[in-house]
Amino acid sequence: MVQPQIKLYYKNVMADALCSEHGITSAQLKELAKKTSPLISRLNNEREAGKTPYRDLPFNTEIPRQVIKLVAEVKNGCENLVVLGIGGSALGNIALQTALNPYMSNLDDKRRRGPRLFVFDNVDPIQFGSFLDWVDDKLDKTIFNVISKSGQTSETAAQFLIIHKLLLDRIGPKGLRKQVIATTDPRKGTLRKITDDLKLRCLEVPDGVGGRFSVLSAVGLFSAAMCGIDIDSLLAGARSMDKRVSREDFYKNPAAILAAINYHFYNRGKKISVMMPYSYALKDLADWYRQLWAESLGKATDLSDNEVHIGPTPIKALGATDQHSQIQLYREGPNDKLFTFLQVHDFGKDLEIGSAPDCAPELGFLAGKNLGTLLNNEKRATEYALLQNQRPCLTVLFPEVNAYTVGQFIYLYEVTTSLAGALFGINPYDQPAVELGKEATFALMGKPGREYRKLGRQIKTLTKVDIEYLV
Ligand code: PA5
Repeated sequence: MVQPQIKLYYKNVMADALCSEHGITSAQLKELAKKTSPLISRLNNEREAGKTPYRDLPFNTEIPRQVIKLVAEVKNGCENLVVLGIGGSALGNIALQTALNPYMSNLDDKRRRGPRLFVFDNVDPIQFGSFLDWVDDKLDKTIFNVISKSGQTSETAAQFLIIHKLLLDRIGPKGLRKQVIATTDPRKGTLRKITDDLKLRCLEVPDGVGGRFSVLSAVGLFSAAMCGIDIDSLLAGARSMDKRVSREDFYKNPAAILAAINYHFYNRGKKISVMMPYSYALKDLADWYRQLWAESLGKATDLSDNEVHIGPTPIKALGATDQHSQIQLYREGPNDKLFTFLQVHDFGKDLEIGSAPDCAPELGFLAGKNLGTLLNNEKRATEYALLQNQRPCLTVLFPEVNAYTVGQFIYLYEVTTSLAGALFGINPYDQPAVELGKEATFALMGKPGREYRKLGRQIKTLTKVDIEYLV
């Protein structure tokens, strides 16, 4: 059976569609091909040498086997699945759920294919507190999947400690072991220590796979499989994209073209990259992309340690909603953005618009049309309007949204990020700037140690409210 393939459409970034000042000429595209092609080979070699383990995830059969085994053990009787995690330990889970389960999944007991899913990637006391009030009498039917590679992340650690106490108080150590599943590093880290000590059931974040590249590991697969998502299809989609993004022919490689176009525009003053899905299902993939792009490409130094302060700023918008919020700026504000639309050909379900009442014949043009047709025409209308203002537009076309095409999209953007990192000459796999905020939180929350006390004092001096500036 021929499986649907997502496609990248890039005509509307070319000078023919825009003008030579704002679009890419064919000579420039040739130059980009020349610069990018050796990087595709470099990445393929690095992958062969085991330097990018995230690329092997779609081919790993052991991880899905373990995930399915655990799902079979715990799914029966589990009414609620709670993911505790942040950043790369949460955004993929949210994106998969929004993309691949119905909008009303959590409320629709009849159609839901697994437990309700709640992903907490924040420490807001009102949000988390009200959830705990709701779940209080359902603890024995609720699985908590705490996901943290390091176990040191304050947000996830705090959530876990709250749950740990709650479960111990309410259902004791045996109940705790039954209701908590940890996903963490196979050998090191605080959560690994806790997991071993408390004898929790666990899944692993594979070695060398950073949080934002981990959605196709147990990090994203467990909640997806629990909630009825076809993870085999998701991984098969990623595998099919692996073939396409490994092609050394630039013009046949969607990741290479995508990375090169982003790189080109960044160097020509379009440093903002707006991803705008025209599909509610794809909306949280744009959030996932935002982290992947920002944490991977925003770097102070290049690979030779030169100070570069580089990185395109990813922005998420939603069509058609943000046409009525952002498009005024996008068309008439600074021409500093590259737009990437996500468009769905077949929504799988559509609604016919009813006829207009006699008193409003001016709405008659909508009658009898489908909502999906309206949404896709809004995308075309927005693209047209942006092109009138010389704004470059890419489109990723989804024939349909299913596990297979979503797997392709995830893998396409992961490899695009690696290639963009190579073009920018930076390391896309670390996130040194996130560390200071983490350390500062430790200091402010009183973590023991002289260095934390010192840091705490510095922070307090710098952030103390000066009432002279308070109006
Ligand atoms: O991409 C990353 O590495 C980060 O966003 C991490 O996922 C995030 O900081 C959470 O880290 P941890 O899984 O160690 O709790």
